Amino acid sequence: MRKKVIIDCDPGIDDSLALMLALSMDELDLLGIVVTAGNSPVEMGMGNAGKVLRFMNRLDIPVFRGAERPLKRPFVNALDTHGPDGLGGSFLPEVPESEFVRQEKDAVTFYREILCGQRPDTVSVISLGPMTTLARLIEQDPEAFGKIREIVSMGGCFRSHGNCTPVSEYNYWCDPDAAAAVYRETDRIGKMIHMVGLDVTRRIVLTPDLLTYMKRLDPEIGGFVEKITDFYMEFHWEWEHLIGCVINDPLAVAYFVDRALCSGFESYVQIETEGDLARGQSVVDSMDFYRHAPNAIVLTEVDTEGFFRMFLTKLLRLRETPDLLADLCRR
Ligand code: RIB
Ligand code: CA
Repeated sequence: MRKKVIIDCDPGIDDSLALMLALSMDELDLLGIVVTAGNSPVEMGMGNAGKVLRFMNRLDIPVFRGAERPLKRPFVNALDTHGPDGLGGSFLPEVPESEFVRQEKDAVTFYREILCGQRPDTVSVISLGPMTTLARLIEQDPEAFGKIREIVSMGGCFRSHGNCTPVSEYNYWCDPDAAAAVYRETDRIGKMIHMVGLDVTRRIVLTPDLLTYMKRLDPEIGGFVEKITDFYMEFHWEWEHLIGCVINDPLAVAYFVDRALCSGFESYVQIETEGDLARGQSVVDSMDFYRHAPNAIVLTEVDTEGFFRMFLTKLLRLRETPDLLADLCRR
């Protein structure tokens, strides 16, 4: 049975790789893409989603405009990381309005219609950007939000340091009030968010060797991945002296399909919203100080080779695991 899912994202280079992976998986029924302001301003993100859908020959997938700015905080994009066009400075041609299933309906209306039009606990959400649109859904229709089957969120960090402050990961930092609202409401209704944070995504590094291998196996798809990640590779070298780039978002998609890829523990998680020092920090009560029922599954271990096995075989539509993979993942 294909899993019905909505991807809420901020494309964004790794969001785009996540969309490519999702669109390559027969296990998923992607009902729609919601674009929320984050890496890119929402209009740019909408266009980038269209560019990815065109490359994947899936312009049939509807794209909905989500929140254009955080609930309370001034909007801070991440174009310094994702390039001036949000796609690594690739400046791919825009998708003409005529070709693009860019919906006039706004994203919250889409969420409400889909969630209330299906049986409860049928449709899941993979959140790859700031959670602003989901927070707006809670404000406008908490009952609809309660019908979401599962939320897998790329965001936060537990023992790993942050990526935009010492303690905060960008998605939760960009809109801490939204992330806090989603974790609070999830707690209130007794559900759990799967937190795919930096503790696991930092282990998913697309290296030059893996990229070269992808191009050897499929020059067209590998070439597209190279085009949108080149800038991101430079950024990682400049800021972290890392050879390669951390592709956070595809892991959330892979984990949604195969839970064995990551492991962790249940815990009560709150998001700091006050001040600037710890803004957006995912405060994981791993020692149960608050004696509060868990509202999250915090993932801390990942099968890196298992992820890249899925990433390459699905994206490149390979019939079997490419033989050099194990060696290339060990480096
Ligand atoms: O912190 C990494 C996350 O923030 C990723 O989802 C990336 O795309 C950005 O949205
Ligand atoms: Ca993202």
